[in-house]
Amino acid sequence: MASLTIRNLDEDIKQNLRERAAQNGHSMEEEMRLILASLDQASEALSPKRSVASVPSLSPFSSEVLEGKRILLIISGGIAAYKSLDLIRRLRERGAHVRPIMTEAAQEFITPLSVGALTADHVYTDFFSREDEQDVGHIRLARECDMIVVAPATANLMAKMAHGRADDLASTVLLATDKPVLIAPAMNPHMWHNKATQRNAKTLSADGIYFVGPESGEMAESGEAGKGRLSETFTIISKMLEILDDRPKPLLGRTAIVTSGPTHEPIDPVRYIANRSSGKQGHAIAAALAELGASVKLISGPVNIPDPVGVDVVKIECAEEMLDTALQLLPCDIAVMVAAVADWRVAGAAGEKIKKKKGQSVPTFDLVENPDILKTVGHNKKRPSLVVGFAAETQNLIDNATAKLNKKGADMIVANDVSPETGIMGGDRNRVRIVAHDGVDKWPDLSKEEVAMRLAKLVAQKLSELSV
Ligand code: CTP
Repeated sequence: MASLTIRNLDEDIKQNLRERAAQNGHSMEEEMRLILASLDQASEALSPKRSVASVPSLSPFSSEVLEGKRILLIISGGIAAYKSLDLIRRLRERGAHVRPIMTEAAQEFITPLSVGALTADHVYTDFFSREDEQDVGHIRLARECDMIVVAPATANLMAKMAHGRADDLASTVLLATDKPVLIAPAMNPHMWHNKATQRNAKTLSADGIYFVGPESGEMAESGEAGKGRLSETFTIISKMLEILDDRPKPLLGRTAIVTSGPTHEPIDPVRYIANRSSGKQGHAIAAALAELGASVKLISGPVNIPDPVGVDVVKIECAEEMLDTALQLLPCDIAVMVAAVADWRVAGAAGEKIKKKKGQSVPTFDLVENPDILKTVGHNKKRPSLVVGFAAETQNLIDNATAKLNKKGADMIVANDVSPETGIMGGDRNRVRIVAHDGVDKWPDLSKEEVAMRLAKLVAQKLSELSV
């Protein structure tokens, strides 16, 4: 459950809370606990159920970017306004200051008290409030922030923005700002697809307004489905990070392919040969390369982790599909082959499910070797400037990795010991050795994200050395 200190609340909100607590016969602390608990329930009810494993990571842009950032959050009307409460919490957890503006319609769905409690800032609602005008003023509101986020953005507010109208505080601030503006539309699918809304969306994009969503799916109104859902909190935050991130991007203009995860080699339509790869390391590398500015295509086998944001993902099942996709994506500047490709596939997989038959012995299968994707790319006439492979070993780590470096035409091999006791396969940490033609570098025990970023920086350095 969310927590906060009443002492830090804005005076107006404190007064509002005092009155509400008195009305309900509670202490202020009790009243606040009840409000926070109801917010938790509301935002949970509005979010699709998903397992912990499917909560998207914020990669590829590090959430440190949000530390100390001043976000002006405009909440316009609609049932999705509830989700802005979760957004406020996640932004504050990442060190951002959130200053809220609520339109009149938004206040029909959530109260300024809830928003103020979570932001611990004054909630701006009334354009003509003399107090607000003296205190901050709409021009200062528009300027004293690092970015403006409109979530949810209604069709009406988008229309006002597209036509430069300023008839309430939210639209006036949006007209007066010189900061980046990100909008997260949420509305009924018919409203989104309406020609007028589409025209307005086009105008706003051309004006440099950033968009996140809307997403497709079921709407809060029963029986309605289609495009119009507010993007999930983590998707909105990822987009914010992308916009706010002004760190150097040494891989800008470079293209990369990354393979990740296991492959599934069919035995028949329902059975397959696979391995224990989770895809965590490969996905993290794709994200890190994108964070440094590369345009990344991730060729992923079947995994249970979310797609990294900011990366194009091509999903495949078996080794042959992975090879075909990789070859289609050449030429490119960088190839990092992380996938644990199954070494063998069943020759002539059955077209129908193989049935057990009484009195017959168990089936036997002939295996054939799969194509070696790294080796094919490493020796291709369209070979990328930098080819990086992995070596998953349980013994003779450096010798085996060096042999792979030479045999597969790679510039570097990231060698890791995947013996079960290391917990590396499927785990969150990795201990790698970088085996290159000029020697071996031993990296300490790191998270898979740290290995990924260190490797992405090394790739950037090697590429820059190649181009001088
Ligand atoms: N690789 C590949 N295609 C294959 C097999 C491996 O692209 N059919 C790549 C992996 O993505 C990795 C490197 O080759 O970058 C080494 O993979 P690894 O599983 O360690 O070794 P193998 O080549 O399969 O050899 P072995 O299983 O005998 O160790």
